[in-house]
Amino acid sequence: MDPILSGLLKPKSIAIIGASSTPGKIGHTVVKNLLDSGYEGGVYPINPKDEEIMGFKCYRNVKDVPYVVDAAVITVPAKLVLEVTRDCGEKGVKGLIIITSGFAEVGDHETEEALVELAHSYGMRILGPNIVGTLSNSDNLNASFAPFLPLNGKASLVSQSGALLIAMDAASFVRRVGFDKMISIGNMSDVNFSDMIAYLNEDPDTSCISLYVEGLKDGPRFIEEARKATKPIVVLKSGTSAHGAAAAASHTGSLAGAAKIYGAAFRQAGVSQADDLNDLFDRTLVLSLQPRMTGDNLLVLTNGGGVGVLATDAAEKYGLPMKFAPADVQEELKKHMPEFGSAKNPVDMTGMAGNDWYYTTTKFSYAHSWVDGLVVLYCETAMTDPQGIAESIYKGVHESGVTDKPVTVSFVGGERSDKAMAWLVENGIPAYGAPDLAVKAMGTLREDARMVEMSRSSAFLPENVDSAKARKVIAGARANGRAALTEIEAKQVFAAYGMPVTGTELATSEEEAVKFAAQIGYPVVMKIVSPDILHKSDAGAVKVNIKDEKMVREAYKTILDNSLNYKADAFIDGVAIQEMAPWATEVIVGSVNDSTFGPTVMFGLGGIFVEVLKDVTFRVAPISVEEAFTMQGEIKSAAILHGVRGDGPRDKTALAKVLATYAYMIHDLKDEIAESDANPVIVYEEGKGVKVVDARIILTKK
Ligand code: COA
Repeated sequence: MDPILSGLLKPKSIAIIGASSTPGKIGHTVVKNLLDSGYEGGVYPINPKDEEIMGFKCYRNVKDVPYVVDAAVITVPAKLVLEVTRDCGEKGVKGLIIITSGFAEVGDHETEEALVELAHSYGMRILGPNIVGTLSNSDNLNASFAPFLPLNGKASLVSQSGALLIAMDAASFVRRVGFDKMISIGNMSDVNFSDMIAYLNEDPDTSCISLYVEGLKDGPRFIEEARKATKPIVVLKSGTSAHGAAAAASHTGSLAGAAKIYGAAFRQAGVSQADDLNDLFDRTLVLSLQPRMTGDNLLVLTNGGGVGVLATDAAEKYGLPMKFAPADVQEELKKHMPEFGSAKNPVDMTGMAGNDWYYTTTKFSYAHSWVDGLVVLYCETAMTDPQGIAESIYKGVHESGVTDKPVTVSFVGGERSDKAMAWLVENGIPAYGAPDLAVKAMGTLREDARMVEMSRSSAFLPENVDSAKARKVIAGARANGRAALTEIEAKQVFAAYGMPVTGTELATSEEEAVKFAAQIGYPVVMKIVSPDILHKSDAGAVKVNIKDEKMVREAYKTILDNSLNYKADAFIDGVAIQEMAPWATEVIVGSVNDSTFGPTVMFGLGGIFVEVLKDVTFRVAPISVEEAFTMQGEIKSAAILHGVRGDGPRDKTALAKVLATYAYMIHDLKDEIAESDANPVIVYEEGKGVKVVDARIILTKK
């Protein structure tokens, strides 16, 4: 583990700079909290006026402390922070927990940067500024102004919001979700989410990393650290409405948004994304207590048909559609239910189920190799005692000897059920007050396993890439003072990376147009090439299905006339003569350079699917071929690619390769390409490939 971060988060001694003997002051509360939490390390209050605070000897300056100081909690006003930071550096403190507000969050980036520079010059790291502090049950450490340590458990929370951390601290008891650490990172001037993921992944007291994120500063490193982590990570992301990508010149840019891109990045990083605060607690509970679900077979045990059906509906909703249990499983389960029970799945033991049946069916099902995850449901009845049922389930789980598959529980009933569920949670079995939540929790564990598997697939590396050629085309456009490539140039760039573009030649005279059309082969498409006319169809500057020489000559004249009518001073490069790709399923592939994550690739079906329904999906580039297949499956209109109305399935393999190649290209050229799209891309039947019909590239500002 990083020794400096350990010094900051697991300090053996702490100085409180700005400690105060006045109750109600933050500098007072921190000393009191250290005392109340039972912290066993050295506590050194620093205050120029006091001799002693709450029984601890007080020093005028941290440099006067005659012992080693690992961490310093800073609670002096902002204007004094630089000065005390220097004192800490000279003292040899490892890390600073800067509670003080009044830096970048109010626009003072300069002082914050100076602070980090000063701390780094002494080898110190900074948590904050503008934080509540840090809490750890395993270290009996409450170095914060949050009221008490959270309910003890195995999750660790890292929060960008201090107030939310305090609220979750108190709520942990009501929600029965236990945390070991709660770390406030505020302005993230230095220590950020990526550092915390790397640190907590090594922390023996943390089994699940729970994050509240408002915004990330280093998207690619976050993805990298999250991918490397072996522990589950769950995130609640807020502030998804406004985003820089909104003001965009391309189609893709207008469809991109913080929510979609963050969502894609979390998926790629194998991070479970909570919908809201309740969901963050629910996911944290299951991810901190149970292993991931590595197969699709979910078995549900119940004493009530109603909750069984609710669980079945939820299973479909959360990506775990239920299947009938195999014959041998059904046969065994039938021994533990009356004639009128059902052993199929959900396994309905009926209202006659008592402790024994719960125990035997749980033990048998949990141990059976067909079962990848077990959900046990219970409706409170007059003949049963919820605590007895809870203990029977626990005994069944533990005596099965299985430790590598998950189990969740839901009891529906009154206070007795609630108490029994609390007991289950204390004993490591997540229990929820509604059957759909127990199934959703299982869905979280399955989704997490799938994401982790996918996040480990390697990015696609296309062969025969000529990036020098692509860069030469781009340099040519820049030399002409252009920020957008012409279609022909864009296709040359695409082709340099092996994208299957339609053959295109630039004719600068009618004779040349006739010659190229004959070379390419009829029918052809003809389009204006002009940096001043981006919407060619609107200008009447595109003619399709040109079948012979006579039509070429006519089209050449019409296109030039229409273009000049559309924009009299347009600069005309010439007319593109292009292979006419037969029509099939139309898709769009696009890219934007996201301010947080860098180049991102978008995919969707063309026409109304993208225009009206905005049915698109994103990934941060580069991507693997497996991810490219997943993208095709996750748009709402995915069924069209499977083949509809008598059409055969589309060539998804060729499309996946194009998507992955495109993602490689935008990543490789991220310093050059701001936005781009291949629109439309025509996808033919299986085995018949894909053609990029039109291409657009907008360059970065340099
Ligand atoms: N070294 C040590 N202590 C010093 C000092 C020095 N160089 N200079 C002053 N102090 C003492 C003060 O004398 C005072 O102690 P006292 O009560 O005995 O007089 C103590 O440090 C605090 O200074 P004070 O000026 O009283 O400040 P304050 O307590 O009113 O406020 C902060 C200080 C840091 C709490 C305040 O500036 C702040 O930032 N509040 C917001 C915190 C927050 O909300 N964080 C984010 C949560 S999400």
